[in-house]
Amino acid sequence: MKNLKEPLELSAPLARRLAPQLCRKDPATGESCSWYHGFWQCLRLMELVVTPAHHAAFYQRALQSIPSGNGAPRVLISGAADYSMLAHVLAIYRERGVEPAVTVVDRCDTALYLNRWYAEHASAAVECSRSDILEYTASAPFDAVCTHSFLGQFVPDERIRLLTKWRQLLRPGGAVITANKVRATAGAEPAGFSPGQAQSFRAAVLHKAAALRAIWQADPAEIVLEAEVYMNELRPWPVRSREEIRQLFEACGLKVVELSDATHAPAAGRQTGASASPGSGDGVQIIATRL
Ligand SMILES: C[S@@+](CC[C@H](N)C(=O)[O-])C[C@H]1O[C@@H](n2cnc3c(N)ncnc32)[C@H](O)[C@@H]1O
Repeated sequence: MKNLKEPLELSAPLARRLAPQLCRKDPATGESCSWYHGFWQCLRLMELVVTPAHHAAFYQRALQSIPSGNGAPRVLISGAADYSMLAHVLAIYRERGVEPAVTVVDRCDTALYLNRWYAEHASAAVECSRSDILEYTASAPFDAVCTHSFLGQFVPDERIRLLTKWRQLLRPGGAVITANKVRATAGAEPAGFSPGQAQSFRAAVLHKAAALRAIWQADPAEIVLEAEVYMNELRPWPVRSREEIRQLFEACGLKVVELSDATHAPAAGRQTGASASPGSGDGVQIIATRL
């Protein structure tokens, strides 16, 4: 996809400012996810996270492999930290002169706000629905479900419900298209930052926050504090092997047609060992079709 430049310098300060108001509060604990949605695009500007942009060629190949039917291709984005997946889906189809019908489902209003914001920026009509994906229903089936790093949001036992839901939402022959980190050495508990990872992450944030100060107009020390909260809160449930992925998808009636190593260049900060993703592992790319 040529020349897709996401307008992060405009939207990162917006997300940081609006997340405390818009983010969802957990009904049980009252905790908000603003530490995540408010900071995610800052991490992207600091090149400390892997996002759909790093897998752009994969998403393009995968979406192009789905046979087109009559009418606009229907794509569901299932969970979106920001608008990156939307930007890629639009760019991939538009390059072929096709306007997709995209629906974004997320349980948080900040994520949906950013998707609406980008849709307006890109003159696209996008449906946004605030819902837990496990509860979501659609009026018509989708050709593709796209997401990135979503499996870790679910405890392993719940993933069966997630994939069963995705399957229900797809038309026969439609595909789940996703990329995820595989943490082969992780235990069964949520992944966290090791002391060494925390140290290099902090150092990278401090360094980059100073260079990007003009964008978010915040003291680098403030950004480091936000990074600290992010590190304490982020606890993805690890996916531990390719086999686990294959079994999970196939148990839910989805045929794995690709399970490949992610070939993207690492995010720049990761070359120094700094990353906003806890634990070690490799990225995999998955295409699985509804039988
Ligand atoms: C897609 S995941 C990870 C995003 C990824 N790191 C990226 O590059 O875009 C994070 C998103 O999933 C959403 N989410 C988590 N659990 C969800 C659920 N059960 N239903 C709907 N959205 C959910 C969160 O609100 C968040 O916006």
